[in-house]
Amino acid sequence: MSLESIRYKRGNLEILDQLLLPLQTRYVKVQGVEDGWKVINKMQVRGAPAIAIVGCLSLAIELERDNCSDKKIMRQEIEGKLNYLVSARPTAVNIKLAAEELINLANVLSADENVSPNEFKERFINSIESMLAKDIDDNKAIGSYGCEAILKNLEGDGQVRILTHCNTGSLATAGYGTALGVIRSLHASKKLEHVYCTETRPYNQGARLTAYELVHEKIPATLIVDSMVSALMHLRKISAVVVGADRVAANGDTANKIGTYQIAIVAKYHGVPFYVAAPLTSIDMSLTSGDKIKIEERPDREMTHIGEHRIAAPGISCWNPSFDVTPASLITGIITEKGVFPPEKLSEYILT
Ligand code: MRU
Repeated sequence: MSLESIRYKRGNLEILDQLLLPLQTRYVKVQGVEDGWKVINKMQVRGAPAIAIVGCLSLAIELERDNCSDKKIMRQEIEGKLNYLVSARPTAVNIKLAAEELINLANVLSADENVSPNEFKERFINSIESMLAKDIDDNKAIGSYGCEAILKNLEGDGQVRILTHCNTGSLATAGYGTALGVIRSLHASKKLEHVYCTETRPYNQGARLTAYELVHEKIPATLIVDSMVSALMHLRKISAVVVGADRVAANGDTANKIGTYQIAIVAKYHGVPFYVAAPLTSIDMSLTSGDKIKIEERPDREMTHIGEHRIAAPGISCWNPSFDVTPASLITGIITEKGVFPPEKLSEYILT
């Protein structure tokens, strides 16, 4: 059985509390937008696609209970609530793009005199619900395009050894995963020899979540700490790095979990292809380059403590950016559900 980060049936939404993984499996009920904002902000659910889906579903839950019969008021409330959800975490663009699309839909439905308030509600909720299946389909397509690209460029013994960073699997999406979807697809092709996943300090998405998914899927894998990446590439032949994305700018610069940038530099030095796997919903064509991406800074406590246990010297100050930006020049290809694009040609491919 594959892991389920989001459990949804009309009127009922639960998310797997990722703060408790891997030691406890507990689902948390999301009863509306306020809960949606909190579970995203506290990172009980995380990963760019999962953030967007849970945020929008939390609105669907609230609308399902709402008996408002004034479409203008519904439209206004929807816009306000979506903007509020977008504010829960600033870097991943998926929720912002989803909110813009849903606000457009609300405008159209509200303006159409042939649409009753009930039909407005039904069509709006249906549109949110369709995000779940679409995300899984997109991830499967990303998986197979990524697998194909990596196998095509494979040198040496024909066996694939992949390095990944952070968590991009079923837990970060509606299912299957993006970069971890590529790994799943390579595993299914029987060409995958081994996966290395970084611990991903300070939040440890790699050690807690990716390692958990890899063990669950019985994919041969080894955990390394973040500072071992250069040694790994020097001593063990890595075929490719595959990571996810929180926001890709129009020029291909990519914001992803802190530490991604240094892995890309090390990969370039060692001649290892570096791929970003991301759905089109992670691409922000409104930003010309990565330096315009807002980087979330998280509380010091995520660095100074592990659980309740303090590991850093009391009194030390901390800097805790949650993401960094990898320049397009370090990226071999961006793997999307429409194919693998060279980063510098992204706008050409996306706009055509
Ligand atoms: O802070 P997080 O855990 O939400 O960060 C997650 C990442 O950086 C992922 O690589 C990215 O969101 C892609 S998830 C498919």
